[in-house]
Amino acid sequence: MLFLPVHCHNHDVTAAVSPASGAGGSIAARAIEMASGWLRGGRKRTAAKVGDPRTSTELLASVSHDLLTPITRMKLRAELISACAVQQKFMADLDEVDGLVRSILAYAASAHGRAEACVNVELASLLRCLTLDYRDSGKDVELSDTFPAVVPTQPRSLRRILTNLIDNALKYGGAAEIAMEIDEGASLSIRVLDRGPGLPEEHLRTVIRPFVRLGSGSNVAEGLGLGLATASNLAHALSGSLSLSNREGGGLKAELRLPGYRQPC
Ligand SMILES: Nc1ncnc2c1ncn2[C@@H]1O[C@H](COP(=O)(O)OP(=O)(O)OP(=O)(O)O)[C@@H](O)[C@H]1O
Ligand SMILES: [Mg+2]
Repeated sequence: MLFLPVHCHNHDVTAAVSPASGAGGSIAARAIEMASGWLRGGRKRTAAKVGDPRTSTELLASVSHDLLTPITRMKLRAELISACAVQQKFMADLDEVDGLVRSILAYAASAHGRAEACVNVELASLLRCLTLDYRDSGKDVELSDTFPAVVPTQPRSLRRILTNLIDNALKYGGAAEIAMEIDEGASLSIRVLDRGPGLPEEHLRTVIRPFVRLGSGSNVAEGLGLGLATASNLAHALSGSLSLSNREGGGLKAELRLPGYRQPC
């Protein structure tokens, strides 16, 4: 018999869990029961009433945030599942739920424009680090045109925007190319390019809205439809903008414009 600390109805209790062979299913079932019990409202969270100033985004964020604790607990419990194949599947499902919940939290945070300190960032270095991180994990990400440029920005937000765009290029196009450019108006942009299917012209703007996804059926890639909405909110918070366009020869170009660029001394 093993004992796990369990946080339940705002009281810490210790739950006994039997790891005996064949217990994997019951542990999994119990973990799911725990989460669904929580969702049915066993905790202090209350539904928004008519006229309640909380927006649906705030409510979504509150639910998502509270879900992180049971998800972590389920991961601990899943480690006790003795059948390896069952454990792996259960863990993969939990990782997926965890990813979805974190996407919602990132979107809610971006919608609120949560403040992050503004610092001067050397853009080419940031892009090089980001590219290397992807390449280290076996992803096909290339950095093409760069030049020395400093922008006053919020580095965590900027990184999040770029990862959302690069993840899309990888998911829908299989590979990503990143480039920096200065246009005629002397404003700086970072472009994330792919050679995937691109988007129908009429959807180039609509897909930036939250929860908008194209396609249907089983061949649609996984996701919530929050990556571009989060990136666009953060771009505005940085006084920049995000736009999408189709590339000549096929594929999508996601362009992030950033203000205040200067060449390093
Ligand atoms: N590079 C791309 N090529 C083709 N279609 C794209 C590309 N990027 C986004 N899309 C389309 O826009 C939709 C919205 O993208 P978005 O990044 O907001 O959500 P998602 O990728 O579906 O899910 P997630 O919340 O995990 O990012 C996608 O579902 C897809 O239909
Ligand atoms: Mg996405």
